[in-house]
Amino acid sequence: MADTAAALKTYNDIPVLDWDLQDPQASSYVLFKDLREKTPLVKVPMGMGSMVMALRGRMVDQIVSPENTRQLETEMKMMQGIFDGPIFDFVAQVMLFANGEVHQRRRQPVARTFAFKLMEAMRPKADAVATEIINEHLGKGPFDFLKEFAAQLPARIIADILGIPRADLPVFMKWISDTAESIGFVDVERRAGIEQSLTDFNAYVDKLLADRRANPRGDFLSDYVAATAASGDMTEGEIRAQVVGLILAGSDTTRNSMCMTLFQLLQHPDQWAALVADPDNLKKKAAEEGLRYEPVVSGIPRVTTQDMEIEGFLIPPGAIVAVSILSVLRDPEIYADPETFNIHRTDQQRWHLAFGAGAHRCAGEALARVELEETLAAIARLAPNTRVVGQHPKLQPGAIRTVDQIQVEFA
Ligand code: HEM
Repeated sequence: MADTAAALKTYNDIPVLDWDLQDPQASSYVLFKDLREKTPLVKVPMGMGSMVMALRGRMVDQIVSPENTRQLETEMKMMQGIFDGPIFDFVAQVMLFANGEVHQRRRQPVARTFAFKLMEAMRPKADAVATEIINEHLGKGPFDFLKEFAAQLPARIIADILGIPRADLPVFMKWISDTAESIGFVDVERRAGIEQSLTDFNAYVDKLLADRRANPRGDFLSDYVAATAASGDMTEGEIRAQVVGLILAGSDTTRNSMCMTLFQLLQHPDQWAALVADPDNLKKKAAEEGLRYEPVVSGIPRVTTQDMEIEGFLIPPGAIVAVSILSVLRDPEIYADPETFNIHRTDQQRWHLAFGAGAHRCAGEALARVELEETLAAIARLAPNTRVVGQHPKLQPGAIRTVDQIQVEFA
């Protein structure tokens, strides 16, 4: 036993990379390929300390296991100097930043009512919304695909799921874009503006919840308020935060994935032609490969709760360890020819890592898949000669990677 322990390398032996996580090279696949061949773990500077990044697929389960780690809670906000106020309260009440029994209590009513079957029923709706937006632009020259399509579709769908009137859509979309940062890193200079919007957004969601309590109408929100009442152990703030959380977690992610997947398909004319020829059979594969090739959530950070032995290293409790989704989705131990975009590949994993792993695995996966698949199929069907115009889109690094711009012409 003593010999095994002695043979283990320590936290200090993990190679350090002088990366700025906001620097584009931090998400360079060339760099990841090189690193992954040399070491399973790297340490990168983060704030006052460091974060360990795990680069290989075989390490994922161990890192997200509640036996070894926990999700970060409000400490992420405290590290940014946020100790109270609407952003802090949101983070303190939402399922994404909770652990154990508290996390389950918040997730269960959402999981029960935001179920796979219900989201599958949204397919015709997603197709109808995509068709509507395509027709607004078809044959009318280049347009801003990011703002006028990819941001619109998830917002219109979630607005419909929540029963938000079309007239409220502009202000609803403004709140989404103003407050999306609350989940990730908050720009200090924008904090006051974000908090004002979050306060208005919260009040609006409170009104929706009160309306469904008074007049249940068999939709998602009515079922959700009934499920929270039945469980009886959620505060009013928690009930609201899960709704706001669903809206925010599903907007930037789906939008950026939509842009990058369409772009990759159009960069590979043979694969685009295959999708155009058979959209119904290939839409799922196209969306999955887009999610693998350019995942929008870059990692799954956790905090170790005890000594964790991993790939020959002993990591102490209290360390931040993240699965690098960017690296693992290109791991040759899992994917043949991982650096190649190929919608025909047969080695996609049953639980796609782009949606995370473990207890916090994406609660909106079914909806995201429906939106991505129906959008790609509708464009392939109605605008088969679509092209990207001007500069190629680039993903900016970050916890959620965002597309800088993309102009598209539907034809
Ligand atoms: C392409 C689209 C999407 C991607 C790539 C994605 C990815 C992820 C990932 C990686 C996580 C886990 C984060 C972690 O463990 O730290 C997550 C969690 C979550 N996602 Fe998504 N997501 C997407 C779309 C959506 C949509 C459409 C919704 C809802 C409408 C949604 C709602 C959520 C929620 C509520 C959580 C927190 C789950 C929990 O903490 O138990 N996501 N997502």
